[in-house]
Amino acid sequence: MSNRTPIIAGNWKMYKTMAEAAAYVNEFLGLVADASGVEIVLCPSYTSLAEVRRLTAGSNVKVAAQNMHFEAEGAFTGEVSPPMLKEIGIDDVILGHSERREYYNENDGDLARKVVVALESGFRPILCCGETDDEREVGNTEAKLEGQLVNGLAGIEASRLPSIVIAYEPIWAIGTGKTATPQIAQETSSFIRGTLAQKFGDAAEQVRILYGGSVKPGNVDELMAERDIDGALVGGASLAAADFARIVNFQ
Ligand code: PGA
Repeated sequence: MSNRTPIIAGNWKMYKTMAEAAAYVNEFLGLVADASGVEIVLCPSYTSLAEVRRLTAGSNVKVAAQNMHFEAEGAFTGEVSPPMLKEIGIDDVILGHSERREYYNENDGDLARKVVVALESGFRPILCCGETDDEREVGNTEAKLEGQLVNGLAGIEASRLPSIVIAYEPIWAIGTGKTATPQIAQETSSFIRGTLAQKFGDAAEQVRILYGGSVKPGNVDELMAERDIDGALVGGASLAAADFARIVNFQ
């Protein structure tokens, strides 16, 4: 870990009704009330966003959306716009999660627009990147990540970079129970920071790089001990308040 303030974000994906979300938040707030020196983010589904925002108001927990459209309004059935999220007080937005890229065909061009619009709208983007098993096996990890970062951040100036969070999520580690070793996660995060430094210079030192992929109470401490890992984006293990609180309170 570095002197960058860590971020621990829980991505609930398409889990939890509004009632389930409320019960979770009521338990969770007590468990993390004393957490300091860490930013805590919950990412519920759209239907629970406003309720989770209301229940966490005045607490040390931020709320993020899992996706966002780049237009302010329009004929885009099923989508949600920046002003809609702004109105309910959302802080951050996850962009380009591998599930969005795979199942909903989000590409780097769409994401570049979304990153710019998110910043202009006052959200902190959490831009995800990551390689598949095959890409790692044939030695394409670095090329894949470099492409996702350079293209996804195409509209960004260096001065804005520190307001962007990068989540490195190897696709082979998401929901599989197969976590990247701390060494692989560190090496890859360091490569990501180097790629950002080449394009943006010193601003890269301020960027928080989160690791995601089967983070659990049992492996968070060793991952967080690595120099270029500044937090975690947690899926499955964020669904139980006690587990996620243990991750937030990493040692
Ligand atoms: P996981 O998901 O922790 O369940 O592997 C991580 C993610 O997809 O953000």
